[in-house]
Amino acid sequence: MSKAKAGIINVTGYAGVELARLLYQHPEVELTSVTGRSAAGQKLGAVFPHLNRLGLTIEAALGEVDIAFSAMPHKESAGVILPLVKKSIRVVDISADFRLNDAGDYPRWYDFDHPAPELLGKVAYGLPELYREKIAKAQLVANPGCYPTGAILALAPAIKAGIIEADVIIDSKSGVSGTGRSLSLTTHYSEVNEDATAYALGGHRHLPEITQELKLLGLKEPSVTFVPHLIPMTRGILTTVYAPLAAGKIAGGEKGKTELRKLYLDFYQNEPFTEVTESPPHTKHTWGNNFCLVYPTIDERTGRLIVISAIDNLVKGAAGQAIQNMNLMLGLPETTGLESPAIYP
Ligand SMILES: NC(=O)c1ccc[n+]([C@@H]2O[C@H](COP(=O)([O-])OP(=O)(O)OC[C@H]3O[C@@H](n4cnc5c(N)ncnc54)[C@H](OP(=O)(O)O)[C@@H]3O)[C@@H](O)[C@H]2O)c1
Repeated sequence: MSKAKAGIINVTGYAGVELARLLYQHPEVELTSVTGRSAAGQKLGAVFPHLNRLGLTIEAALGEVDIAFSAMPHKESAGVILPLVKKSIRVVDISADFRLNDAGDYPRWYDFDHPAPELLGKVAYGLPELYREKIAKAQLVANPGCYPTGAILALAPAIKAGIIEADVIIDSKSGVSGTGRSLSLTTHYSEVNEDATAYALGGHRHLPEITQELKLLGLKEPSVTFVPHLIPMTRGILTTVYAPLAAGKIAGGEKGKTELRKLYLDFYQNEPFTEVTESPPHTKHTWGNNFCLVYPTIDERTGRLIVISAIDNLVKGAAGQAIQNMNLMLGLPETTGLESPAIYP
């Protein structure tokens, strides 16, 4: 059987170029077309020498493909995706343009009116751990944001089991590639190196996405405080979530910690990419691979749940998860092309 043809819209950004790297080693799919506004007409290998062997030229418009990935910035992404959807081409959108179910959230959080509000809520949210069956049948998948991926996977088992109260704190530290490849003063080497800072305290754009998904998991009237931080590393997101334990739902002391661990192990037992670790995970343990590592515990003094998660923002937080979704959409084993362990050290 011939391989499915895949295309990447906007290979010139970090998420797009990471997709090209991962598709290069995919045995069942051939990357046949890549676009990039600033480099149209140039050899892919001239712009990204590590991808020279793909032998592709960056195009101005996408060629004929069976499945397309959009790694465009938000607002621009919907514009390029909608014509593909009309042509019945399967699409995984890495931008935020189809993640939120409420059209009113787009002007509020992303400064644009959604061009296809009728599609919102019908599109599959591309977190396979929660929506595997819907993704497999979908024509359009909204790949989750990088921060939401780490936060939702850290909280999902606890919410499903009804063991936490709705007052959730999410503290995340991200590497600089999370802000993209475009140049800016805040991501300049001498600004970021040996520095760490919180940002978006007034409300980060990923907050409505996280809140939406926590509600859908069953958390009633969630009150979510989300504070992202930028730290001097290239890849990775380390997230620590805190929530008060609901009274009488889980034992105290070591017994409670064991119960909690079992609850998380059971929830993720069949997941190929989400793993419950025996000690707090490091972002380095996910570098370049599609894993989300999760470590749940209890702060006995305060009665709070603490869960730490680690992902590579460009892989499980973007391109790897997009390929996991593509595998499901094409009826391939979910792990195809994604099985390599993290790069270490
Ligand atoms: N970085 C991450 O960790 C991450 C994780 C999850 C999701 N995402 C999402 O993935 C998408 C791409 O993010 P990224 O981090 O890869 O960004 P990026 O590295 O900054 O790439 C964005 C690229 O988009 C192109 N672009 C900008 N404005 C454009 C416009 N008006 N029309 C056409 N092209 C335009 C530019 O390419 P040219 O220079 O060629 O014009 C720019 O290099 C975003 O929607 C982002 O939210 C990113």
